[in-house]
Amino acid sequence: MSVEGLSVLVTGAGTGIGRSIALCAAREGAFVTAVGRRAEPLREVADKSPGTIEAVPADVTADGAPERIVAAALERFGRLDAVVNNAGLARFGRLADTGLDELDAMLAVNVRAPAALIRAALPHLEPAHGSVVNVSSVAGTLAMPGRAYYGAGKAALNSLTRSLARELAPAVRVNAVLPGPVDTPLWHGAGMTEDEQESLRAGLLADTPMGRFGEGDEIAGWVCRLIDPEQSGWVTGALIPVDGGRTA
Ligand SMILES: NC(=O)c1ccc[n+]([C@@H]2O[C@H](COP(=O)([O-])OP(=O)(O)OC[C@H]3O[C@@H](n4cnc5c(N)ncnc54)[C@H](OP(=O)(O)O)[C@@H]3O)[C@@H](O)[C@H]2O)c1
Repeated sequence: MSVEGLSVLVTGAGTGIGRSIALCAAREGAFVTAVGRRAEPLREVADKSPGTIEAVPADVTADGAPERIVAAALERFGRLDAVVNNAGLARFGRLADTGLDELDAMLAVNVRAPAALIRAALPHLEPAHGSVVNVSSVAGTLAMPGRAYYGAGKAALNSLTRSLARELAPAVRVNAVLPGPVDTPLWHGAGMTEDEQESLRAGLLADTPMGRFGEGDEIAGWVCRLIDPEQSGWVTGALIPVDGGRTA
């Protein structure tokens, strides 16, 4: 791995997949700007790698937040080589039961904020020949009854990834990983009852050929590989499923 010395910004870095990405990048020698709304989980992650992970509490959907987040990374590490748009919001429910405010909230975090952060970071990513990795989902490619809004947002993120890969080449690479089900706090905040969660999880397991949920580290490894210019310097516009075979 040669992410060593790179400055990597990770959103949603306090928990779940983002936490694994921040720790993976730091372990491999990168400097990490860890973003999320809650300060405490970010501080816990930063404490695991003192001096290399900077906690920057921020809501990625807030006005001016992308510019402030990029400025914080530059101030702390002096450069910016990669942006990982991992922060995500999942609210599940059938169309008839789910107001359009839920759609707006998900699009704000899962689509608008990544676009805004890439825009804010671009003047710094270009001279660095840097890259973007968007943490999307298999929900962006599969039909998602009961999760249509979430799937629509992730499909939009996939489209953004592919279009920007062409638009920003050759200066900046843009890729996405598409995780299948991973055990993270996301499931508990998705607006389902315990019973609904259990039956959804059972269905997902039955539909995942590898027969288990994934681990955050199994997603993070691919994100770090995509950031690494030595391993992935010729990879852009890729939507990489890391899903236990769910979309096979
Ligand atoms: N778990 C899965 O099965 C799965 C499958 C496919 C894709 N994904 C994707 O993986 C990504 C990470 O999710 P996860 O599973 O690791 O769940 P998670 O632990 O709930 O992570 C989501 C993170 O995003 C942060 N976040 C949410 N809204 C934010 C905002 N407005 N501003 C800043 N940070 C915000 C949260 O921190 P704060 O609350 O502190 O802000 C949290 O750390 C998401 O994009 C998700 O869609 C997950």
